[in-house]
Amino acid sequence: MTDTLDIKITKAAQSRLAETDFNNLPFGKVFSDHMLVADYADGEWKNFEILPYGPILMSPAISALHYGQAFFEGIKAYKHANGEVSIFRPDKNAIRFNKSAERLCMPTLPEDIFVQSIAALVDIDREWIPGKPNHALYIRPFMFATDAFLGVTPSATYKFVVIVGPVGPYFSKPLKVKIETHYTRAAEGGMGYAKAAGNYGSSMLPARKATEEGFDQLIWTDAKEHKYIEEMGAANAMFLLDGKLITAEAKDTILDGVTRDTVIALAKNWGIPVEERKVSVAELIEGAKNGKLTDAFGAGTAATIASVASITYEGVEYPLSDPATREFSKKVLTTLDDIKYGRAEDAHGWNYTV
Ligand code: PLP
Ligand code: COI
Repeated sequence: MTDTLDIKITKAAQSRLAETDFNNLPFGKVFSDHMLVADYADGEWKNFEILPYGPILMSPAISALHYGQAFFEGIKAYKHANGEVSIFRPDKNAIRFNKSAERLCMPTLPEDIFVQSIAALVDIDREWIPGKPNHALYIRPFMFATDAFLGVTPSATYKFVVIVGPVGPYFSKPLKVKIETHYTRAAEGGMGYAKAAGNYGSSMLPARKATEEGFDQLIWTDAKEHKYIEEMGAANAMFLLDGKLITAEAKDTILDGVTRDTVIALAKNWGIPVEERKVSVAELIEGAKNGKLTDAFGAGTAATIASVASITYEGVEYPLSDPATREFSKKVLTTLDDIKYGRAEDAHGWNYTV
């Protein structure tokens, strides 16, 4: 632990809270009054500052814009019924933040500085945390390269920024998903395990095509054979097959999700066998046909636990059981919510109180 982080604070002259409609919170469109900004230069992080949320002035030549030296994180803060505020497992995001930084040749940030930075911003904007079920304050930390230089080489300067905003559910209904067999999200030796901005840019065309074909999401498969399940959109794909929780192992093509890790820990607590391994499309289709695939969902911070209604593979749709009758994902969601909103004991120490 380093000493308390020194942050210069300039409060917004006027809050936008009163003019914000908390009954209409589309994901990622509403931002709070403040943001946190810090600079990396001369080999060190400096100028930590919380200031009114607003535009950032930058050179048009920054390498983040041209070569994608940029990545982000996604975390949520929750308001408990007694008014207490907690952030869910930010220490895990701090570790992943640095894995992304290293993959993109960008500077790491000491984990406690990462956590202190977001906690300080959440504290200042705590009134922005919705006090409603299924709602939270979404925290978006990110870093980007700021050298004004068009050479393809790592920048010497960077900005670390945190913005936050109140959000409701990312998905409003169970998802009709398609198994993608042409496009690839990540290849071995690539940067799938990093939350690199470019991973999301490259996902947009396949996602748009899937939407045009009438699907809500797609399931990525491996780059070599398109035979093994990787992830579901911007969430980890998890299944209950023959009584076991199965999910792709967190290797270089998979984002090591905090929600995934949390679901695995809960399943293990409940004595459910967990297998982190290659999950073949064939076994899922077989399970969908013979009824042994009893649960299927995407797990992610924004997505939370997003039920899969049906899986389409090579043009054939395989409907799954009614999500309302699924014991496992319902228990996961209830247990997780009870912990996050402070209604149940936080036995794993997942809540970081602000
Ligand atoms: N996989 C991808 C590609 C994602 O973008 C996300 C979202 O963050 C996840 C998985 C889930 O990770 P987490 O549970 O840490 O949000
Ligand atoms: C998150 O769950 O935090 C994500 O990063 C998903 C986001 C791309 C919408």
